[in-house]
Amino acid sequence: MRIASARTWFIMKVAVVAAEMAPYAKAGGLADVIGALPAELQGCGALVSVVIPGYKCALAALRTENIGGEQRVMIGERLEHFSLRTGIGPAGVPVFLIMHDGYFGRDGIYGEHGQDYSDSIERFVFFSRAAALALGEVVKPDLVHAHDWHVAALPVLIRADSALRMQWDRTASLFTIHNLAFQGLTDARDFRLLNIDRSYLSVGCLEFFGRMNLMKGAIVMADGVSTVSPTYAREVSSDPSYGFGLEGVLREKGSRFVGILNGADYHEWNPATDQHIAQRYTPDQPAGKSVCARALRQRIGLPIDSKRALVGMVSRITAQKGFDLLVDALDELLALDIDLVILGNGEAEFVTRLQRAQQEKPDRIRISTAFDNDLAHQIQAGCDMFLMPSRFEPCGLTQMYALKYGTAPVVRATGGLADTITEFDSVSGSGNGFVFEAYQPAELIATMRRALQTFSDRPAWERLMANCFVADFSWSAAAARYMDFYRQLIDQRARHAS
Ligand code: ADP
Ligand code: GLC
Repeated sequence: MRIASARTWFIMKVAVVAAEMAPYAKAGGLADVIGALPAELQGCGALVSVVIPGYKCALAALRTENIGGEQRVMIGERLEHFSLRTGIGPAGVPVFLIMHDGYFGRDGIYGEHGQDYSDSIERFVFFSRAAALALGEVVKPDLVHAHDWHVAALPVLIRADSALRMQWDRTASLFTIHNLAFQGLTDARDFRLLNIDRSYLSVGCLEFFGRMNLMKGAIVMADGVSTVSPTYAREVSSDPSYGFGLEGVLREKGSRFVGILNGADYHEWNPATDQHIAQRYTPDQPAGKSVCARALRQRIGLPIDSKRALVGMVSRITAQKGFDLLVDALDELLALDIDLVILGNGEAEFVTRLQRAQQEKPDRIRISTAFDNDLAHQIQAGCDMFLMPSRFEPCGLTQMYALKYGTAPVVRATGGLADTITEFDSVSGSGNGFVFEAYQPAELIATMRRALQTFSDRPAWERLMANCFVADFSWSAAAARYMDFYRQLIDQRARHAS
């Protein structure tokens, strides 16, 4: 008989630290995860708190109050002051905001007018250190869960800083990678911002080809590392074109590196309850979807009575998301029986090409470069298909949302897309979308042709929509997996510390 150790069953205190949290501060999927996972963990019995920067937008969206006095941290040679505010987040989860007017009292999260702030490394090293100090005093968690490069300094500082080390000795740390393309890679001179022993700027920790790499430091120093889908975990630890040079350190982590598929937040993304769409609908009564389609066409200025399939994208417009492939395939794509609506902002080269196509074919393609959550929901509800030709995709949340809205995903089989979407087979009636492997325009076009063939066969399409509707990627499975991993890491830490 296996007897669980006493530690396995205590009430676990978990602190989640991240640069985004929906609905208070959102730039992409990271925010959706931090907006949903803590509440779900709380439902599993953990005591969870979240720490985010006190951005202007977060203060405007969340009622907060000041707690404690002013605190101080050293960032390089400078003494920086901060204070702490707290508010109540989703499901009553406490949210702590690190208040520093110079770093966070700005209009943007990462930048403004398409330009990143030039002091990103310093802002987030400060945030990581301030969060470590505040959490050590206010929460004293059993496990700290840090997300993405912005807070990669935290798992390093709590082990490497002599003042923090003792306080954090019994706290386990988990670092989750949402995107390995952004590593917090910077000039080695920025190492001074961390105020830790010079030995940590070595190839075994933060040093990366003569530069400093915060994400590498976190992977080495965190007790556990995870990423947001099993397939991406395999891709980044085996293939340099996915691992961006960190595949070796990830492999060295062994069983302490895992892939846990994100969930979808069905409180926010559900056509039965969605406040942003023209008419709510359910799998049993899907008629509202065509009302949503007409309303969407009207809003964006596409012909309302078109019989063509409406294909949507809601995405950062970058090479990661497959926009180089899309623009290469664009003429051929628009020669098919589709209309295309794209919501997203990003690289000027792609945006300009798409805007030119819109000028040339205003009845066939619409692009909006706003950040517009309303329109994001309306595209999910109003389209027939949802396109994600990503070059790489750590998880991808929008394909999961599309399924819930009965909108068939057309995706490249990579990362989380490979873990959530399977090719529809009209003979067996299985599958929930259309999938291609090779990153080539011809593959994209061939896949879109297969989708259109099914679209023209109404019974087959209805079967496909039914398969989409029943797909269940709710957060409960992911939260249970995180809880198991947390327990494992806390037990390991306890053994190490005792
Ligand atoms: P990533 O995090 O890589 O950008 P995800 O699919 O994980 O991709 O999540 C993207 C999130 O950001 C989704 O909630 C999507 O609806 C939202 N989103 C992306 N671009 C926009 C935009 N221009 N306006 C509104 N929401 C957007
Ligand atoms: C990143 C990834 C995306 C993932 C999201 C949330 O932004 O690009 O694939 O869904 O994080 O984990």
